[in-house]
Amino acid sequence: MVSKKTQLDSLNIYWQKNCICGLKKVATQAVFGSGNASSSIVFIGEAPGKKEDLEGKPFIGAAGKFLSEMLKSINKKREDIYITNIVKYRPPNNRDPKPKEIEDCAEWLNEELKIIKPKLIVLLGRHSMHRFFPKEKIGAAHGKLLIKNIDIFGEQAFLPLYHPAAALYNGGLRTTLLKDFKKIPKILEKIN
Ligand code: URA
Repeated sequence: MVSKKTQLDSLNIYWQKNCICGLKKVATQAVFGSGNASSSIVFIGEAPGKKEDLEGKPFIGAAGKFLSEMLKSINKKREDIYITNIVKYRPPNNRDPKPKEIEDCAEWLNEELKIIKPKLIVLLGRHSMHRFFPKEKIGAAHGKLLIKNIDIFGEQAFLPLYHPAAALYNGGLRTTLLKDFKKIPKILEKIN
């Protein structure tokens, strides 16, 4: 039986070569998902930022540091979870990823999720949430457990949260995000 880690490594090699996302031409490199391939929880962010683009790892800048602090608040470490992005290449000047760029990286993310088969997918920010729930508004959906039957992996539990980067310099959002984040252990218990 090929390990999930090995399957992810092969997947990344394939898509790094075959992904047709236009951002590939302007980014330094692809930023693969990282962490525990056997985790029951996967976090999905938006797209790599400057630091991630240079170093090739997701969530290693200020938003990533905040994410690690929040993980600590629920007794988890970065090594316990898996983290990835809807778009694997940095958009210039950290602009929002365009619908075509999200679509061009979609199969890569789908296959990543099919290998990991997490119990819970935490969607960081509205772009990540819209990838699975195009009609939801982050202001209403944040912190709520959403169950959806997705053709690629059947019934799946999702938790949309505000993006840590958006909450970094906004006290109100920060408090809300910290409160929502603390719901994760109970949600995992509930869906187990
Ligand atoms: N923000 C994201 O959404 N992803 C990263 O990898 C870094 C910052």
